[in-house]
Amino acid sequence: MNKIYLSPPCMTGEELELVKDAFRSNWIAPLGPHVSAFEAEMCETLDVRHSVALASGTAALHLALLALGVEKGDHVWCSTLTFVASASPIVYVGAIPSFIDSSSQSWNLDVDILAQELKVAAKRGQLPKVVIAVDLYGQCADYDPLLEVCAEYDVRVIADAAEALGATYKNRYAGTFGEMGILSFNGNKIITTSGGGMLLTSNKKHAERVLHLATQAREPVPHYQHEELGYNYRLSNLLAAVGRGQLRQLKKFTAKRRANFNFYQQQCEDLPGVEFMPEASYGRSNRWLTCLTVDESKCDTSSEQIRAILAHKQIESRNIWKPMHLQPIFEDCKIFGGAVSERLFGQGLCLPSGSDLSQEDLERIVREIRSCFGYTQ
Ligand SMILES: Cc1ncc(COP(=O)(O)O)c(C=O)c1O
Repeated sequence: MNKIYLSPPCMTGEELELVKDAFRSNWIAPLGPHVSAFEAEMCETLDVRHSVALASGTAALHLALLALGVEKGDHVWCSTLTFVASASPIVYVGAIPSFIDSSSQSWNLDVDILAQELKVAAKRGQLPKVVIAVDLYGQCADYDPLLEVCAEYDVRVIADAAEALGATYKNRYAGTFGEMGILSFNGNKIITTSGGGMLLTSNKKHAERVLHLATQAREPVPHYQHEELGYNYRLSNLLAAVGRGQLRQLKKFTAKRRANFNFYQQQCEDLPGVEFMPEASYGRSNRWLTCLTVDESKCDTSSEQIRAILAHKQIESRNIWKPMHLQPIFEDCKIFGGAVSERLFGQGLCLPSGSDLSQEDLERIVREIRSCFGYTQ
């Protein structure tokens, strides 16, 4: 029996041809024609002015915070329901993270809580410098009200679109909201370069600043001159070649991931206690991962039991992210709300969602899930 992975890479052949080209040209470096072309093609695809290809999405967030001047003692607020890399760069720069609960309609940052807490923080003189909004599992946060309330208090927004490349909010692409957006091309993402990321912005100064910091903050003079600390965070030309090949598949991959979701939903929505991650009316998710919740009080199984049974059958599924405010490394941080993300964590499960998942595999997964509820069909 073949093992079914959660979200494996899907290479089409074009990537290898582009990598061969990088070898032929001998640009085996963290710069080169594929890096520039990957950046230009991403800008065109997403209709954004500037992009900087980087070693990871985490690096992109780190540099975005630095470019906004976040430093020791500043406050930065972040969605609590996310992967740790949304929050760890806050600590890299010495700032203090606080976390915001999810809305049950979108699973993303609850803008009502944000508005309420910004009001309280303004009164106390403790406003955050930045809010990091996460586009969870491929669905955009609710940017119109989010940006409006942040602008009211002069708080900058970084959009963590690591999981949401190709998703839209009111016909505009994920990653293009706020001061800066970031993408990830980690091995499990909708397009991958094995590891990699990108910073997106319409602000030329931010793009130049990020590029400077990503290349050891080397001053533009013939000798090696450094006036501040920089990082070695650029994406290599070889990996950018992979990214270019992958980006050509984005539409196809998004359609397939959405089709995976629709199939699971059609086949499983009659199961007692099962609910699929809702799609907010303001946008279109890329359905990077199909996520559902299982309410144990309405059935005789649980998300954890299903995960274990699927694992036994060589099918990889995963828990929903454990909220940041429940993580030991962030135990001293503030949380605004928390009950929604805790419920989603307790009940949630991510199903195999690969861009080349076969119909046969989808049917096998559905059969196993249904049998957890006592159905043989
Ligand atoms: C929401 C989120 N933010 C940030 C990252 C970090 O990206 P990377 O793994 O490319 O550093 C990831 C994924 O890995 C993620 O899922």
